[in-house]
Amino acid sequence: MKFMGFSGDVGEYSCDLLAFVVRGDEEWSTVLKNVDEALGGLLSTIAEEEKFEGKADTSLVLHTHGKIAAARVALLGASEDVAVPAFRNYAAQAVKIAQKLSLDSVGLVAPSAGSDTVDLSIRFVAEGAILGGYRFDRHRTQDTTEWSLGSFGLGLMSDGGMLDISTDQFNTATGIGIQVAEGISLARDLVNEGPNKMTPIELADAAAKIAEEEGLECTIMGMKEIKAMNMELIQAVNAGSDIEPRLIHLTYKPEGDTDGLPVIAFVGKGLTFDAGGYNLKPTGAIDDMKIDMAGSAAVLGAMKAIKALAPRAIVHGIVPSTENLVNGSAYKLGDVYTAQNGKTVEIRNTDAEGRLILADALCYTVDLGIDEMFSLATLTGACVVALGPYTCGIFGTDQTMVDQVLEIGEDTGEDMWQLPMNPKLRKMLKSQVADMKNVGERWGGASTAALFLKEFVGDTKWVHMDLAGPSFLDSPVEAHMGKGGSGYGVLTLLEYANRR
Ligand code: BES
Ligand code: ZN
Ligand code: ZN
Repeated sequence: MKFMGFSGDVGEYSCDLLAFVVRGDEEWSTVLKNVDEALGGLLSTIAEEEKFEGKADTSLVLHTHGKIAAARVALLGASEDVAVPAFRNYAAQAVKIAQKLSLDSVGLVAPSAGSDTVDLSIRFVAEGAILGGYRFDRHRTQDTTEWSLGSFGLGLMSDGGMLDISTDQFNTATGIGIQVAEGISLARDLVNEGPNKMTPIELADAAAKIAEEEGLECTIMGMKEIKAMNMELIQAVNAGSDIEPRLIHLTYKPEGDTDGLPVIAFVGKGLTFDAGGYNLKPTGAIDDMKIDMAGSAAVLGAMKAIKALAPRAIVHGIVPSTENLVNGSAYKLGDVYTAQNGKTVEIRNTDAEGRLILADALCYTVDLGIDEMFSLATLTGACVVALGPYTCGIFGTDQTMVDQVLEIGEDTGEDMWQLPMNPKLRKMLKSQVADMKNVGERWGGASTAALFLKEFVGDTKWVHMDLAGPSFLDSPVEAHMGKGGSGYGVLTLLEYANRR
């Protein structure tokens, strides 16, 4: 897809569909009024007849019969409080209409959210245009559509007219948007892929491919190395699987002198299928457990796009990966294992496996001598119960870092909410035989999982993101967020590295 900017008289912009953002019952812009006039007032008449009131996610399409250069005009309803992340949705809505009508070229006329947000608006439009057309159809042999959009034009309005944007400014901003959207699309692909085709081996292969394409350092460790590093927790979860575990480690280093730069790490749970082990999940709960590597998908998606923003920080992406299945060697209730840092864990539930593989991976990460780290995991159903399916639970040991992440959530549009790690809950993890057990009691499940992880982060500043809800959508949320893997987390990680 080719991106281009346009300004001047939009009536002269030639494309298959020219889409205008209409915010609620706000008065139409001069630009839109001019188009209406060129169409002999047909647009406003039909909008009234069709009761188009500019409500979010409604639209109206009209043929122009040669009265302006564009073949069709669309009105896209949008909520009145315009936040910059909404630009993704505008672009994706226009792309969805083009997809339905098999059109080749789209122009979008959007309100400017202010001169200081122009670059971000352009970037988000590029992201929305790509993500709105996202499909996972590589395994379909029937009923496939070959459609893809040829070009996407963007015009931003200023007071009464169109904003002049230099080609350089436009290309730089869309360039970032395209790379970020590719990172998110990759994360979606990894999550949507069947667990027979996305085992720890394939996940590691995908990471190695990213490293090669993006020029990152890459180390892939297998059972031999995991054993040698005394990571019994990863081995315990892996015992029920016929496929070897992997510990994936990618590193991004900015160009030039890297002395004294901040060092951050993203650690993602890469459970390629979570059957629950001997605490087997029932039908309904087990069905979509291929998504249990969504934390790792966010990490790998962010590493794929990291060069788009070229942060002045060294960034490590680390993924422990295994399946959690059952067989004659699978780990059992009552088993006791020693984590990489020497702490012992009694297994009281084989379905609380994510925290186990993350524990060993967090110890490994701390040993790298980093300043700050993130864990990202589809860790608990309890977090989804607490916050619903769209919101990520945020925990952390450093409130300044947590506050930065929450602010980034606002700015990027990734929904999140801080949850407590109440130290009073720590006693729920007390074991009769070991330093701790791997589950708490019924209540506070997301918090006890975070408290478990906290045992393995030492003094390193740490934020934990429980994305069990938002990483996979059961139905489309917005035009740029369809059903299936969402790529949640990529934006937050990239922006955190960028602001660092
Ligand atoms: N992978 C699941 C959590 C999950 C649930 C992810 C729903 C996505 C959607 C995790 O490994 C798990 O099974 N957690 C248990 C923890 C319990 C045994 C303490 C859970 O949430 O039930
Ligand atoms: Zn589980
Ligand atoms: Zn799991």
